[in-house]
Amino acid sequence: MDGAENYGTDLNIRRYPQWVVATAGGVLIGLLLLRRRTLPGVRWYRVVYWLAYRLGLTVWQRRTPPAELVALVEGPSAPPPGHALDLGCGTGTDTIYLATHGWKVTAIDMVPKALASARRNASAAGVAPRFIEGDVTRLRDFGVGDGYTLVVDFGCFHTLPEDRRLAYVSSVSQAAGPRATLLLYGFSRPPKAAPMHAGVTVDEVRHRFSQDGWELVSAERASAATLGIGVRRADERFELSVFQLERLSS
Ligand SMILES: C[S@@+](CC[C@H](N)C(=O)[O-])C[C@H]1O[C@@H](n2cnc3c(N)ncnc32)[C@H](O)[C@@H]1O
Repeated sequence: MDGAENYGTDLNIRRYPQWVVATAGGVLIGLLLLRRRTLPGVRWYRVVYWLAYRLGLTVWQRRTPPAELVALVEGPSAPPPGHALDLGCGTGTDTIYLATHGWKVTAIDMVPKALASARRNASAAGVAPRFIEGDVTRLRDFGVGDGYTLVVDFGCFHTLPEDRRLAYVSSVSQAAGPRATLLLYGFSRPPKAAPMHAGVTVDEVRHRFSQDGWELVSAERASAATLGIGVRRADERFELSVFQLERLSS
């Protein structure tokens, strides 16, 4: 890969005056305090993501794809480009990277503002992936389709509430074709102050996915050093892990 390339120029991260940051922080702390209360119909993680994109507090954004994805797509045993699915695509960095490397990509996210940035980034890069506004735990309802040979999730599964994780696994399993590869990134030791349930462990990945016909091929610590994520040393502090899984049966 050409290291100078970037796949997400419309990063949407803003520099705010102190008072704006303090107010936004107050709102997030308020959410943190409220998060254990159940209000009918309110999903805090949805509110948090919506607010984060609205306020430009999207610290996870980056311009380049992670090394493991690049190795998979451009390495010596790279498969021919096929159909790829980007789950929780955000502003589309990985989607656009895949599309520029010949993959037919479908990308889904629940936040319209993220998708608007992703569309602008894709258009600037001269590619036209299919973007869908929807819920990764209900892919079929949003017409995502099936037969995907590569599925990527950078930071989506690990903030899903406990009671949506089973639905995510069966939804993704329906969309994946036989022998599909899933590359899943998440924090193994998430920030304690995260305003929503977060984190994913090797045991959880192995257990949940093996029940739906996936084999855990590898589980490793990932390095975000070159990714330009907005939280310093986030990968070390929160133990960013990358799980590679292979679908054994469809
Ligand atoms: C940490 S961000 C990562 C975004 C992107 N993958 C990246 O690396 O820049 C997680 C993304 O997942 C999306 N997301 C979380 N839960 C979702 C759900 N149930 N359905 C669709 N998108 C979801 C959020 O809106 C957010 O854009």
